Amino acid sequence: MRRTALITGASKGIGRELAIIFARQGYDLVLVARSKALLEELGKKLCKKYKIEVTTIEKDLTCKEAPEEIFQELEGRRIDILVNNAGFGDYKEFAHSEWEKQYLMIQLNVTALMHMTKLFLPNMIKQGYGKVLNLASTAAFLPGPNMSVYYASKAAVLSFSQAISKELKGCNVTVTALCPGPTSTNFERTAGLINSRLFHSLKVTDAKKVALYGYKALMKGKPVAVEGLFNKMLVISTKLAPRGVVLAMIDQIQSKLREGQPADGQPAEGQPAKE
Ligand SMILES: NC(=O)c1ccc[n+]([C@@H]2O[C@H](COP(=O)([O-])OP(=O)(O)OC[C@H]3O[C@@H](n4cnc5c(N)ncnc54)[C@H](OP(=O)(O)O)[C@@H]3O)[C@@H](O)[C@H]2O)c1
Repeated sequence: MRRTALITGASKGIGRELAIIFARQGYDLVLVARSKALLEELGKKLCKKYKIEVTTIEKDLTCKEAPEEIFQELEGRRIDILVNNAGFGDYKEFAHSEWEKQYLMIQLNVTALMHMTKLFLPNMIKQGYGKVLNLASTAAFLPGPNMSVYYASKAAVLSFSQAISKELKGCNVTVTALCPGPTSTNFERTAGLINSRLFHSLKVTDAKKVALYGYKALMKGKPVAVEGLFNKMLVISTKLAPRGVVLAMIDQIQSKLREGQPADGQPAEGQPAKE
């Protein structure tokens, strides 16, 4: 029997790489995102190369009705794997941020993820097989100054995923929270992180590596999967160190690059090199 994987945010970055991995493994795909052209282009390529079926659904998951509409569109179709990957961040002090953007972030990163899980989980339980991969982040373990809502949204994803993973014990349905650190995708630009130290002071991984790690962790049914040795050590240190120390450390990492220092990390003319 051919299995089907539904992946949100499959047009770019980690979601796109996950779609390629599932296609290579012979899964039929349902790909969801707003960028119709990118989804169709990827779908055509994967159909041709791996002889699989690909359905593309153009949808803005910040809309309240979007998960229900996706579920209706797939009514009667067996979904074996659900990857809740679509998400974005915003690099701004909370007091000066746009509420609408924070609201949409919560809608996408948290509400749509939970709603999609709520809709597709019962059939997985009924069919006696299913796997859910939820994109959390190393941010899920930390408070994140300058990205407070994003970090909090990922903490919600981690907490939710761990809790339902426990509830589902014994019914052959697993839930995995994937926790990557900074990864080279569109995320940095969308979140406005170009001027932050985050992507300059920590090791940046590539999306292919994160996706493959996530795929393997999902297949093993791991409840929480932190990608990379550095990130694993970071997560352990957040559990051992006092919260105040962790907050001070992340405050440094999340701070803006010095004025005059270009985003590529090179010192600007007449400026001292970055320490
Ligand atoms: N990159 C990192 O450093 C990093 C680290 C930890 C965790 N993560 C998490 O990994 C996940 C994937 O991010 P990424 O790094 O691959 O970022 P990305 O390259 O920006 O990709 C984000 C994906 O989400 C989709 N998306 C965004 N808004 C959407 C909406 N309103 N409705 C439907 N789809 C939407 C985008 O497609 P369209 O624009 O076509 O809609 C795109 O396919 C996110 O949940 C992110 O929080 C990323």
